[in-house]
Amino acid sequence: MTPELMAAGARAKAIHEGRPVPTSTESGGRETSYGRIATGELDVTHGAILYLDDITVSFDGFKALNALSLSISAGEMRCIIGPNGAGKTTMMDVITGKTRPDLGKAFFGSTIDLLRLRENEIASIGIGRKFQKPTVFEYLTVFENLELALKADRGVRASMFFRLNGEQLDRIGAMLTLIHLKDSAQRVAGLLSHGQKQWLEIGMLLMQDPKLLLLDEPVAGMTDEETERTAELFLSLEGSHSLVVVEHDMKFIGELTQNGRNGKKVTVLHEGSVLAEGLLSEVQANEKVVEVYLGR
Ligand SMILES: Nc1ncnc2c1ncn2[C@@H]1O[C@H](COP(=O)(O)OP(=O)(O)O)[C@@H](O)[C@H]1O
Ligand SMILES: [Mg+2]
Repeated sequence: MTPELMAAGARAKAIHEGRPVPTSTESGGRETSYGRIATGELDVTHGAILYLDDITVSFDGFKALNALSLSISAGEMRCIIGPNGAGKTTMMDVITGKTRPDLGKAFFGSTIDLLRLRENEIASIGIGRKFQKPTVFEYLTVFENLELALKADRGVRASMFFRLNGEQLDRIGAMLTLIHLKDSAQRVAGLLSHGQKQWLEIGMLLMQDPKLLLLDEPVAGMTDEETERTAELFLSLEGSHSLVVVEHDMKFIGELTQNGRNGKKVTVLHEGSVLAEGLLSEVQANEKVVEVYLGR
């Protein structure tokens, strides 16, 4: 969930409970909207939408990321696997501005230096992140959650007086279909299954039209059927979005990469750097990878 969305949720909750509406201060000046952030346009003419070079993050001398270099092409879906503690979540923390690296470079397209932007700015230029635990507004309906996500980047006043136009209603309708929640539109989100909450949060991210989506263990805790549907959903986003999917579930990775039939690459992280990269079958046959997984 983005800082904007968190603030919008707090406002909606206050209105819901009849309390004074809080104004967002954390992001200072954020109400002026992101048109003012001097980041320049996203430039992917060189092919890469995300470029990490030599990123090192230390926690008390321990290197959670150790000279990590990685590049994701525009429209690509990249699966990232690796044992617990490999640095997968820390990598997402760096990309989204939550953690600052000690060393290295991180660019969004070829011109936007992510290490110079704050978390809320990074979210507003089109990098959406799905955390491991679903974070939806449980007391709002599914529809209201999506509506809030659509409005979240507007200022307090604008979102309070904002009415959905036909096109926006259509967008919410299409999203409900995409995330398999059309029949649950008027249900309170707190009553959804774990898998449905995960889909709702993905839908909320998509309402904000991100260019790059970061998904941290999106199918953890899902049933087999929910996992399969999630793979279908991600495959339908490929091309129009760039996705980085971190996951342990190898069956899911197999579905996403269609077991290498479409030449999709998988990256294996270990001890904060890239251990191997290639087709799923190639990395699974890689001796170093086998050792890392079986050695534990
Ligand atoms: N804030 C932190 N302070 C100290 N150590 C951390 C912190 N965040 C992560 N780590 C450590 O960094 C390593 C990588 O963690 P993480 O990125 O969460 O791995 P993964 O997501 O691949 O399981 C782990 O050893 C973890 O304990
Ligand atoms: Mg993790």
